[in-house]
Parts: sequence; structure tokens; C-alpha cells
Amino acid sequence: MQPTIIITGASRGLGAATARQLAQLGANLVLNARSERLLTALAHEINEQGGQALAVAGDVSQPAVCDALVAAALETFGGVDTLINNAAVLEPIASIAETDVRAWRRHIDINLIGPYLLTRAALPSLRERHGRVINVSSGAAVSVLAGWSAYCASKAALNQLSASVALEEPDVTSLAVRPGKVDTDMQAVLRQAGATGMASADHRRFVQHFEKGELLPPERPAAALAALALAAPHDWSGQFISWNDPQVQMLVQSRIKD
Ligand SMILES: NC(=O)c1ccc[n+]([C@@H]2O[C@H](COP(=O)([O-])OP(=O)(O)OC[C@H]3O[C@@H](n4cnc5c(N)ncnc54)[C@H](OP(=O)(O)O)[C@@H]3O)[C@@H](O)[C@H]2O)c1
Repeated sequence: MQPTIIITGASRGLGAATARQLAQLGANLVLNARSERLLTALAHEINEQGGQALAVAGDVSQPAVCDALVAAALETFGGVDTLINNAAVLEPIASIAETDVRAWRRHIDINLIGPYLLTRAALPSLRERHGRVINVSSGAAVSVLAGWSAYCASKAALNQLSASVALEEPDVTSLAVRPGKVDTDMQAVLRQAGATGMASADHRRFVQHFEKGELLPPERPAAALAALALAAPHDWSGQFISWNDPQVQMLVQSRIKD
């Protein structure tokens, strides 16, 4: 039976690259992001190439959207095997003293409440299928940068949410994954908004990574997310793991050979 995977933030960047790879590996996909046009185009592309993808557009911070994603997976494919909590934003980028409370709260709604709501909605099916939750985290979960209070706090909390699922749900494998520095729109936001909201040395370092071509193409960490979504061993549950960890790369190689 083909596994069914819900992936948020699939309209572009790392999420879209992961969806394409999972489709090639034979997974049924339920794709989510707010941009309906981009999402529908990706579902169409995957289906044209012989895959199985549904687009369910909406804001992941809304309970009704999370319920609709799980309902679509149940109705069309019969259940959920893996949930990839990938949707996130970086903004607001500003010092705590200068951030707007509504923007900070909105950030937490998307980056933390969204994964909580969706995990909660998918748990009955994940338990039944001995499924997986892959939480796309960041190095910012364990190191701080001035101007990134919302992002550092949301990713640190996401790691703890991920570990809590591992502790409470013996039939589910839950991991937080660090994808590295990836060449996506999020890095473009950083280079633009970070020019005023970050310490100049930190901002310059990120700009230089981009200018020197050091950012990862999304396909590389996407291969790690796809392999983990399909085959992360249960005894890794609760870990915060890097996309290029040798064990993860062995899993990637074994999926390619399959
Ligand atoms: N890029 C990096 O260097 C880097 C480094 C470490 C971690 N990460 C993590 O990797 C993941 C993917 O980021 P990315 O780099 O691919 O960023 P991206 O290109 O900005 O993509 C973010 C995705 O999230 C979606 N999204 C944002 N808010 C949403 C909401 N309220 N509801 C539903 N979907 C929403 C966006 O689609 P819509 O705008 O259409 O909703 C988009 O598909 C994130 O969790 C990010 O924190 C990235």
C-alpha cells in the first residue's frame, strides 16, 4: 500500500521540493499552503507525472484547515502515514523592544500552533498506522540571533513539541529535523528584512553565504526529509537531527537503491 503524507508549506521552497521527491518515491500526497494557485499547479504537475496529489489550501494556524487536511487524507487515501510540519515564517525580524505584539503572536500561531493543531488532528490515524511526524526545525532552535526572537522561540518550542509527541505516543515516531541553510524565499526575506532588524555582522554572514553560492539547493535537504518521512526508524523518535547526519544520509541512500 502506498503511504499517505500530509505536507504543509508545499507551495514552494523546501516543501515543494520534498513533495516532488515523495511523489517520485510513490507516496500519496496531501499538499497545504495558503497560495492556492501555486499549490494546485504543483498537485497538477505531480498528477500529470503519474503521482497522487491533492491540494488543500489554507492557513495552517486555523483549526478548520488542519481538520480539513486530515479529512482529505482519510477520505481520498484512507489514512495518514506521515505528517510533515514544514510551513513556517521567519518574520518579524526585529529586536524584542521593537517588535509588534500582533506580529509576534501571529508568528507563533503559524510556526507552533499550526504543527500542534495538525499533529493533534492526525494522531488517531498516525497511531493506527504506526506513523511519523517530521517537524522541520532549524539551527535557530538551539542558537540565538539578535532580531530573531520569534523564530528562535518557535523553533525551540517545536523541538519540544516533537519530543513530547515521542514521549506520549509510543506508536508514533516523531522527529525534529534541521534542514541546513537552504536557498529559498525565506533566505531572501532574511537578506531583505534582516538588513535593518539583525546585527549587521550576522546579516552580512548570511548575505555572503548567498553570494558565495553556499546555500543548499532545496533538493538536498528535501531528500533527507523524504527518506525520514518514509523510513525514519522508531528508535530515533524524540531526536533533533540534522539533514546531513551520516545516519540520515544512509537512509537517503537506501531509499534511492530501493
Ligand atoms: N531556508 C532556510 O535556510 C531554512 C533554514 C532552517 C529551517 N528552515 C525551515 O524550513 C521550512 C521551509 O522553509 P523554506 O525555506 O522552504 O521557506 P519558504 O520558501 O518561505 O516556504 C515556506 C512555506 O510555508 C508556507 N506557509 C507560510 N505560512 C503559512 C501558513 N500560515 N499556512 C500554510 N502555509 C504557510 C508558504 O506558503 P504560502 O505563503 O503560500 O502559505 C511556503 O510554502 C520552514 O519550517 C523553515 O523554518 C529553512
